[in-house]
Amino acid sequence: MNYQWYPGHMTKAKRMMQEDIKLIDLVIELVDARVPLSSRNPDIDELGKNKSRLILLNKADLADKNANKKWGEYFQGKGYFVQEVDSRSGAGMKAISAIIQEACKDKIERDRKRGIKNRPVRAMVVGIPNVGKSTFINTYAGKACAKTGNKPGVTKGKQWIRLNKNVELLDTPGILWPKFEDQAVGLRLALIGSINDEILNIDELAMELITFLKNQYPGTLEKRFQLDESEEKSAVQILEEIARVRGCLIRGGELDYGKASKLLMDDFRSGKLGKVTLELPEAE
Ligand code: G4P
Repeated sequence: MNYQWYPGHMTKAKRMMQEDIKLIDLVIELVDARVPLSSRNPDIDELGKNKSRLILLNKADLADKNANKKWGEYFQGKGYFVQEVDSRSGAGMKAISAIIQEACKDKIERDRKRGIKNRPVRAMVVGIPNVGKSTFINTYAGKACAKTGNKPGVTKGKQWIRLNKNVELLDTPGILWPKFEDQAVGLRLALIGSINDEILNIDELAMELITFLKNQYPGTLEKRFQLDESEEKSAVQILEEIARVRGCLIRGGELDYGKASKLLMDDFRSGKLGKVTLELPEAE
């Protein structure tokens, strides 16, 4: 799903979040493990203050394992609970219930002291578009869950998914707006495919990716396309080789850069180039 973020949409998203956040104990924030900072909006810290916080490094299956570990430590160091997940396969999900209990133990203890027994923790999922919120909810909540009806005192229309006797999840995720103002952030979001390709120049994106991979993951392109990635070669020359190796031609036998760029970006986004992370905590 693609969103055009006009100021009006941002204000509306923020207002909805402010309303929903009042109802919950825990914010489950999804970030993309390949770009954990670029795919989050720090406004959620202000919106979610006084709430328990869990950050899920989603799409961990597409990201660099060492980098996932570093990001886990980074967010833990900032006081969040963190877990790596692959919402598509369900990997990493089993640990979440225990983490939720731990993250909300102060609230559970407060309830107990007030004589409130077994009130489930209420949580909501938030994140920028495309980060995997719906996939996560579907996989995590699974088929076993039951939707609970509207509750008295709760805003009309809100649906809660009963995950188990301890946790309820708001069934509609909160949508956070990306930080487009920062160009480096915009580029990383474009690389992972979170921004509509039609509004971007795919050749430029492909060349940015080639330059990044050459510097940070040398050998990746050589391995995938059996080409020579030597230092002196420019990104354009490498793109040219990809076009040649893969037979991306237009009529008349000329190389089709657009097709080669698309092919490269698709390979990257689907993990065919390997597990790649585009930003590291030490660089921030
Ligand atoms: P959203 O609600 O936050 O907007 O995101 P959504 O769940 O729609 O997921 C966006 C895309 O990311 C989907 O792919 C989804 O399958 C994929 N995805 C979500 N979580 C993971 C994950 O942990 N690992 C991987 N590899 N992919 C994930 P799509 O191409 O848009 O749809 P489809 O081809 O899966 O149908």
